[in-house]
Amino acid sequence: MTAKGIKEAVLRDPTDFGDVDYPTALVNVTNVCNLSCAHCFVFRDDNPNSARDKMDDATMMRQFEILRDKHNIKSMLFMGGEPMIRKDLVMQAAKLFEIPAIVTNATYGIPKLPGGLVTVSLDGPEHMNDPIRGDGVFQKVKAAVEARDPDDQTTLMLQMVLTAQNHHGLEEFLEEVKDWPINGVAFTFYVPRAEDDTGLAWDDLKDRDPVIDRVIAAKKKYPGLVKANIGSLELMYSERCLECTGENGENCLMLGTLPLYMGDGGNFERTFCCYGNDVDCSRCGAYAVFNSAYHKRIKGEDGYHHRSRHYAKQWP
Ligand SMILES: C[S@@+](CC[C@H](N)C(=O)[O-])C[C@H]1O[C@@H](n2cnc3c(N)ncnc32)[C@H](O)[C@@H]1O
Ligand code: SF4
Ligand code: SF4
Repeated sequence: MTAKGIKEAVLRDPTDFGDVDYPTALVNVTNVCNLSCAHCFVFRDDNPNSARDKMDDATMMRQFEILRDKHNIKSMLFMGGEPMIRKDLVMQAAKLFEIPAIVTNATYGIPKLPGGLVTVSLDGPEHMNDPIRGDGVFQKVKAAVEARDPDDQTTLMLQMVLTAQNHHGLEEFLEEVKDWPINGVAFTFYVPRAEDDTGLAWDDLKDRDPVIDRVIAAKKKYPGLVKANIGSLELMYSERCLECTGENGENCLMLGTLPLYMGDGGNFERTFCCYGNDVDCSRCGAYAVFNSAYHKRIKGEDGYHHRSRHYAKQWP
């Protein structure tokens, strides 16, 4: 056996996820995070998320190649935990995929990903973001955005997750960030857990409708800055949203994405959907769900290629 062969033989094979194609996938490269955001789905009880479970760089690189080739993965979204805690690995692994994307809290700076997408999470203006993401986080992220090289060929987006508690800040947030060196701002809505009692979800989805109206108004006011499709947002209204989600995800196109969570003993495990195992599909606010449905139903565009491109451009 060659040295390369011996090395490969000692690296673990990936979990068997069947023979299905998954043009889009996401991976939690680490379960470690330096923040503890109020709304975060990753650390819900039913998810594989122990900080003890780790996969070394060489094993993960090899498993990515095997899974990419087996499932025809084109688009890979690197997340966590905080993916930039394993920056060197992520930057190497990004080269393995046609459409790489990273979603980060940006407290370790902003990675350059020429030709790819980096999404930076901020959940409103400073006075709303910091109670959710931690004291001082807004200013730290702002400094990192201002320090970036806008000519580095990386598409840089901000993303705000709208909840029943922070939605009041969406217009103020846009006013604050509109002149930052970014390519756009995405809004997505909170994905609750089953029997969510955090106060972040809208108990009655009719109460979410006026917030959708405000995102549409924001899109009309700042068409270049707000990266949202009005047709997709309209599918989120309470009288229509179940058509795209189903009570239990039965209508959800996002189930065609492979979520790779870091599980027992540092082996990949898949969860029910990108948002983990404990989700309330009937109140799901993931913009990507509705945008995929829009492109499939309204414009007649279907197929994995479209979805994978979309997915890389918009974190669910
Ligand atoms: C789980 S984080 C992982 C990457 C990185 N730590 C970050 O915060 O960007 C990925 C994205 O999911 C969003 N998110 C977390 N919990 C959510 C929820 N319950 N519903 C919708 N989005 C959520 C975060 O705000 C962030 O934009
Ligand atoms: S920074 Fe990201 S992974 Fe960490 S707690 Fe916040 S949303 Fe979750
Ligand atoms: S993304 Fe799909 S499967 Fe996941 S919570 Fe939303 S509707 Fe359910």
